[in-house]
Amino acid sequence: MKKTGIAKSIALALGLSAASVAQAADVEVLHWWTSGGEAAALDVLKQDLETQGVGWKDMPVAGGGGEAAMTTLRARVTAGNAPTAVQMLGFDISDWANEGALGNLNAVASEENWDSVVPTALQAFAKHDGNWISAPVNVHSTNWVWISKSALDAAGGKAPTTWEELVAVMDAMQANGITPLAHGGQAWQDATVFDAVVLSMGNDFYQQSMIDLDPAALSSDTMVEVFNRMAKLRSYVDDNFSGRDWNLASAMVIEGKAGMQMMGDWAKGEFLKAGQTPGEDFVCIRFPGTQGSVTFNSDQFAMFGQGDGENDAQLKMAASIMNPVFQSAFNVVKGSVPARTDVPNTDFDDCGKKGMADLAEANDAGSLFGSMAHGHAAPAAVKNAVYDVVTQHFNGDMSSEEAAEELANSIEAVM
Ligand code: GAL
Repeated sequence: MKKTGIAKSIALALGLSAASVAQAADVEVLHWWTSGGEAAALDVLKQDLETQGVGWKDMPVAGGGGEAAMTTLRARVTAGNAPTAVQMLGFDISDWANEGALGNLNAVASEENWDSVVPTALQAFAKHDGNWISAPVNVHSTNWVWISKSALDAAGGKAPTTWEELVAVMDAMQANGITPLAHGGQAWQDATVFDAVVLSMGNDFYQQSMIDLDPAALSSDTMVEVFNRMAKLRSYVDDNFSGRDWNLASAMVIEGKAGMQMMGDWAKGEFLKAGQTPGEDFVCIRFPGTQGSVTFNSDQFAMFGQGDGENDAQLKMAASIMNPVFQSAFNVVKGSVPARTDVPNTDFDDCGKKGMADLAEANDAGSLFGSMAHGHAAPAAVKNAVYDVVTQHFNGDMSSEEAAEELANSIEAVM
């Protein structure tokens, strides 16, 4: 019987309500980590909390990128029944903080000096009016390509560093009879690839178009070229890509049915769960043309005010999330890198070590950018406008010129 089960039995024997014990000792967590690799990482957190007597009431809402989870969250809060803690990204955290819905974590954050170890890029979302309102568990980055080692060897063996080399490798893979690009036709996945293609046109262009939302950049010839490249990538996916979940695309590469996947480093969690090793079974590279730069997103757990003052279990969960030992153990499995800058890379594989080094380099060089696709470049209304245009274009519903024009117009319409 779980600890919380024993606690409840004793409480009931003493005439206390199970709810009061549940409230003190349990956290109900809304999240979208339902793939094999994600669930393995989540278990690290569940077990860590259990050792501290905090029970876990799971509330998974499947759907990569978290769109469905955020819709469910809105319904729960509207019904006056907010979960204890919620996995959230970037501007979604800020939006809920602006509504005054989030609990205050300063008691833990100040005691454990989070201000000195959490990168400012994450603090921008984890703090509101100077108060800590969420606990960052990791830093993912989205401008990665995960390549089957055997498929790459059969296509010449050199990992591409430019767009032209990428096209040549995909052409060779196509000639070898495998699907060059494993992809899931869902708006957030199309947008994840779009992030990388925009970044490959240069740091300044990503800043101007995705962060500054400059209409001139959004409708520029450079953006037309971005959409031309998206159309070229569309020619390398298989006929059944529409609606495919991202982890099933990862499985195509893992099983040698496809040559590569352009996806955030949560994909590495699937390769690891399948028992594969970087450098032997797969190769991790930055999207060609983006080495030295990073588009990031951080998974954070925001704590919703439970109305009866601070919830001890929430503070314990926040402390657990930010524990350096946990940060290493969790991120090694998740495919991301720690949200703290003081965690050693000892236990990380070569791709994890590269991820940590790339993040530090980009942070120092001013080439660390929030991912548009994963809610770290602009609020949800803008992100969804980008989703709509990018996925319509990827599905062949508009030309590259129309897409660039529509991108500028639809973003302007929601600002
Ligand atoms: C991202 C999230 C990752 C992973 C991915 C696929 O937004 O940060 O942890 O869940 O979506 O669903």
